[in-house]
Amino acid sequence: MKFFVDTADVAEIKDLAATGVLDGVTTNPSLIAKSGRKFLDVIAEICAVVPGPVSAEVTAMDVETMLKEAAVLRRIAPNVAIKLPLTWDGLKACKALSSEGVACNVTLCFSANQALLAAKAGAAYISPFIGRLDDIGEDGMQLIRDIRRIYDNYGSLKTEILSASIRSSEHVKQAALAGSDVATVPPGVLRELVKHPLTDKGLDAFNADWAKTGQSIL
Ligand code: E4P
Repeated sequence: MKFFVDTADVAEIKDLAATGVLDGVTTNPSLIAKSGRKFLDVIAEICAVVPGPVSAEVTAMDVETMLKEAAVLRRIAPNVAIKLPLTWDGLKACKALSSEGVACNVTLCFSANQALLAAKAGAAYISPFIGRLDDIGEDGMQLIRDIRRIYDNYGSLKTEILSASIRSSEHVKQAALAGSDVATVPPGVLRELVKHPLTDKGLDAFNADWAKTGQSIL
């Protein structure tokens, strides 16, 4: 499973990119607002740090303006993926852009039927929002399983499942078990993934025993 980080915090992205685990980045208007910075500047900086796809979301509601905004975003860098909402206009924009070879990430997906539509419109990625479904008492992970099964039923659908709205390390594990192609993970959750109490305990013991030897590698 590929890891994208779900943030517009460039310093955080730089630090995580140095670990080699980052395959891409997703942003959305709320994350840009949280950064307090200019959208186009942030996307340009992220694209310079991460060679993989960087999702930048259009804000228009109609297809004509979506395509104009996409043209501006595409000029930033070749690795910009255009994020489009799961509406009829978003699907039209997806069809037009994907026909030109542009990677589109269709976002705000909450049903398997929506995911099927996005795939038929040529989306490179579909973003089902796990956490927001859990929030309303539904099983977000079941949506990932359903989409995986549907896409696998039809070999012609090449859309990658990008599990989004991830809230915990358990979500990450379950998404991988469900066969999600990508998980976009908030930085805090991504940092949690490395942690295990036995790793810390083992390291403490090794360090204590090493100190007893009085040796130094350098
Ligand atoms: C996905 O691309 C979205 O940016 C994101 O995962 C939304 O997550 P949230 O529900 O925690 O806002």
